[in-house]
Amino acid sequence: MAGARLGQWLFVLVCAVMLLKAAGLPVGITYVHSAVAKGAVCLDGSPPAYHLDKGYGSGINNWLVHIEGGGWCNNITTCLVRKNNRLGSSKKMLKEIAFSGILNGRHMFNPDFYNWNRVKVRYCDGASFTGDVAAVNLATGLFFRGARIFRAVIEDLLAKGMGKAKNAMLSGCSAGGLASILHCDNFHALLPVGAKVKCVSDAGYFINAKDVSGARHVEQFFSQVVATHGSGKNLPPSCTSKLSPGLCFFPQYFASQIRTPMFYVNAAYDSWQIKNILAPGVADPHGTWQNCKLDITHCKPTQLKTMQDFRAQFLSAIGGVSGSRSKGMFIDSCYAHCQTELQETWLMPDSPVLNKTTIAKAVGDWFYDRTPFQKIDCPYPCNPTCHNRNFDPNHHQHSNFAKMSRKKEFPWLLLIFVHLLGFPIFHGCCWSSFDFGV
Ligand SMILES: *[C@@H]1O[C@H](CO)[C@@H](O)[C@H](O)[C@H]1NC(C)=O
Ligand SMILES: *[C@@H]1O[C@H](CO)[C@@H](O)[C@H](O)[C@H]1NC(C)=O
Repeated sequence: MAGARLGQWLFVLVCAVMLLKAAGLPVGITYVHSAVAKGAVCLDGSPPAYHLDKGYGSGINNWLVHIEGGGWCNNITTCLVRKNNRLGSSKKMLKEIAFSGILNGRHMFNPDFYNWNRVKVRYCDGASFTGDVAAVNLATGLFFRGARIFRAVIEDLLAKGMGKAKNAMLSGCSAGGLASILHCDNFHALLPVGAKVKCVSDAGYFINAKDVSGARHVEQFFSQVVATHGSGKNLPPSCTSKLSPGLCFFPQYFASQIRTPMFYVNAAYDSWQIKNILAPGVADPHGTWQNCKLDITHCKPTQLKTMQDFRAQFLSAIGGVSGSRSKGMFIDSCYAHCQTELQETWLMPDSPVLNKTTIAKAVGDWFYDRTPFQKIDCPYPCNPTCHNRNFDPNHHQHSNFAKMSRKKEFPWLLLIFVHLLGFPIFHGCCWSSFDFGV
C-alpha cells in the first residue's frame, strides 16, 4: 500500500518536473529605467519592462521581440482599474515568467527560435502601444504613452545588441498581436539595414463586425480606445488619411499597406472575438450565448450558423492581405485565442495542424524562406487536431489564478497549469489520472 502511494507521488513529481521543463526556465524582468526620462511610462507612471533570455550559438545575432497581450482600456474608468494591476503598472508585474511556445528556449519545443535572443515586452499602456498624450491628467494620475514605450524599449534592445541583428522578428499575441501589425514597419525601420526583419501577429486580427444584436460594439470600443489614448497620430497614415482614426485600429483597413513581411496566426473562430466582438455581454442581455461562448460544443445550431457567418466575415477581412508570397497565414478553425505562446498549440505531438504542418513549422519555414505558407482551414468542426479549449491567456488566466490562490487550492492550480500546458505526451500519465473540465 505504502509503496503504491509513494509510487503515485513519484509519478506526479516526475510529471510536474517534466512539465516545468516544457514550460521553460523562468526569465527575470528588466525595467527600462532610461525610458522614464523620455516620458515613456506605464499607465501609472512606472517604467516599462521586458523579459530577455539571451541568444547563443547560431542565434546570437537573432532577435525575437514578442509583445504581451491583455485587452485595452477605453476610458478613464477602465484605465484607472488597470493602473493598479500588472497591465498598467510594472510595480505589479511578476519578477519572473516562464518562456513557452515561440519563446521556448529548448530546441525540441521551438526548433527555429530557441537560441535567439528572446524578449517578452510587458504590456502596460492599455492601447497596443499606440498612445501618446503629452499632458498628464493630474486628477487621475494616468499616463497615455504606449507609442513612446514601444520606441524606448526597442532603443534599449538595440543598445543591448539588437543593433547588430542579422534576423529579427516582432511578434505578439492578442492586443500584442495587434501591436505587432501596427508597429511592424516602424520596427523594421529601427533595425539595421540589411537585417532580415519580419513580423508575426497571433490572434491580433480583430475585425470590425456587428455583434449579435446588430450594434457596432467593437467599432465604438476601439474609437474610444483611440480617443482616450491620443493614438490617432501613431496609427498608419495610409489609413488615417482616408478613414477615422478609430477605424485605423482594425488591421483590415491598413494591413495591405504594410511593406514588411507579415505572418498571421489566427483562429477563424477566435474565442476572444466570439466573446467580445460577436456576442459581448451588452448584446446578449439574457445570456443565451453564455454556454456557447464557454464551450463551442455547447453552441446551438443557430449560434453555430452565426459563428459560420462570423468566419466568413473574418476571411473576407483578412483576404485582402493574401496573394504575396511574403505574407504568411495560418487560419485554423479552432476555438482558440493566442496559439503561439502556448506550447500545446505551438509545437507538440498533438498540436493543431493545417496541411500536416504545425504553427511552429509554418512560421519557421516562412521566416527562413524555406516554404511560403498561406492556409485557411475548412469550417468548424472539420479539423480533428483542434483542441477547442476555452483558454484565453491574457483575459482569464490571471483572474482565475488569483481567485484560486486565494482559496488555497494549490493542487488545482498546479493541475490547471498542467492543463494549460496541455502536455499531450503526458495525457497518458498525469492527464488521465487528473482529468477535469476547465
Ligand atoms: C467605460 O467603458 C466601459 C466599457 O466599455 C463602460 O462599461 C463604462 O460605462 C465606460 N465608462 C464611462 C465613464 O464612460
Ligand atoms: C502541403 O504541404 C506539402 C509539403 O509538405 C506541399 O507539397 C503541398 O503542396 C501542400 N498542399 C497544399 C494543399 O498546400
